[in-house]
Amino acid sequence: MFEGVSKPSGITAIIDHALDGAITQLIIDREITGIKGELTLIHTLGKLPVARILIVGLGAKKEFNQDTVRQITASSCRFLRSRRVKQVATIAHGTGTDQIDSFLAGRLISEGIILGLYTFDRYTNREHDFNNIECLEIVEPVSDKISELERGVAIGKILGKSTCLVRDMVNEPANVLTPTLMAELAYEVANEQDLHIEVLDRVAMEELGMGALLGVARGSDEPPKLITLRYDGDPTNPSNNLGIVGKGITFDSGGISIKSATGMEKMKGDMAGGASVVGAIKAISELGVKLNVTAVIAATENMPGGSAQRPGDIVQTMSGKTIEVINTDAEGRLVLADAITYARKMGLNRIVDVATLTGAVEIALGKVCTGVMGNNNDLIGQIIQAGKDSGEKMWQLPLYFEYREQIKSTVADMKNVGGRAAGSITAAYLIKEFAGNAAWAHLDIAGTSTSNKESGVLVKGATGTPVRTLVSLAEKLTLD
Ligand code: BES
Ligand code: ZN
Ligand code: ZN
Repeated sequence: MFEGVSKPSGITAIIDHALDGAITQLIIDREITGIKGELTLIHTLGKLPVARILIVGLGAKKEFNQDTVRQITASSCRFLRSRRVKQVATIAHGTGTDQIDSFLAGRLISEGIILGLYTFDRYTNREHDFNNIECLEIVEPVSDKISELERGVAIGKILGKSTCLVRDMVNEPANVLTPTLMAELAYEVANEQDLHIEVLDRVAMEELGMGALLGVARGSDEPPKLITLRYDGDPTNPSNNLGIVGKGITFDSGGISIKSATGMEKMKGDMAGGASVVGAIKAISELGVKLNVTAVIAATENMPGGSAQRPGDIVQTMSGKTIEVINTDAEGRLVLADAITYARKMGLNRIVDVATLTGAVEIALGKVCTGVMGNNNDLIGQIIQAGKDSGEKMWQLPLYFEYREQIKSTVADMKNVGGRAAGSITAAYLIKEFAGNAAWAHLDIAGTSTSNKESGVLVKGATGTPVRTLVSLAEKLTLD
């Protein structure tokens, strides 16, 4: 029900009637107001064939949008699960408005339930205090609309499940999810989806001259992996391509510039960018998007071992450019420098990198939106729109030439930190130096890759951002 409705209409009126006006009475009593997220459970006590009716507040009608459907589906399913409900039926929210057709409603509802009911409990021995919902039925009285609804549900499932795969990877602790395991998971996706896969080890990276990536890997006993997955969605047009490059630091201790202990455990999630490109290419291939997509994941730990790189070291990247490592904790930009060079050498002319790159992006934008930067405003615009369509907010930050000065080095081509001012921008600026003339965009997900609270489609822990945006972007690029 929308906010401010004084009299139930449509299916709600029919139910109200069967319940002898219970809903009308609750509206009069102001227990039901329709504000967004309000949940009112009514026991039908034999007056209807179902035991309970849940009235869900949709908020103001003029603010209603696609994401409302995902959010309220997610939160009402969580509520019903907490009440041990097993079987649920729902109307196709939003199809009464002109914004949402049956296809979209199906997609949004299935995304909502899969994301909202996500849990990560594989390491707990305690009895689970809930049983999952077994079945959600969408009730659609107009039979012509059913096939479109079903088509939407199938696509929402692909999007929801690939997001949950990414959440699992990000939530896994670093003693389990090593670069080697990331490579194994990538192999699983490749086999399942029949993708081309290549995994470079330390020796192969040395041969290619990836001094920046290897500099980061030096401090760890875990072998680094450079993982490439390729999906040939448009094989007759090889230049119709997209490269998605992810930061895959499976644990970021900071290295010799070691982080403080408080909150360091969160750095198991520093591979969220890498995980998101794995999830995205899986969904893109499942959907059969007509675009050639290559995912590159630079996977390594950043540890302070005896062979670790030191502040002041100068590394030579695969491109030939040199970087002075002022702070070993600014490692994401170092591994991305080589991963992006590698992507460009493969002929990718459109590249989106995804990285938990800077704490500064959370200072600027909080956990609400992802920071987007790049050298091509068309691509950035398409990403922001793809984010809107996916319920993942994006906000652009500028890469004015003036920022270049902050990463000037006197002893190398650039240095890996640019001071406190505009920290997310100077980090992106370093990466830009390696994008060359490819159309390139960078998504800083340090704030948005995890959530501190349960809200709508998000639960505590990994969010899976920006898998669905990347999939939607790939779909948009086929229209070019
Ligand atoms: N992985 C961190 C960024 C990060 C911070 C991700 C918080 C998620 C949550 C990154 O490698 C890092 O340590 N960045 C430094 C850069 C600084 C040394 C210039 C930072 O943001 O403090
Ligand atoms: Zn770091
Ligand atoms: Zn990091």
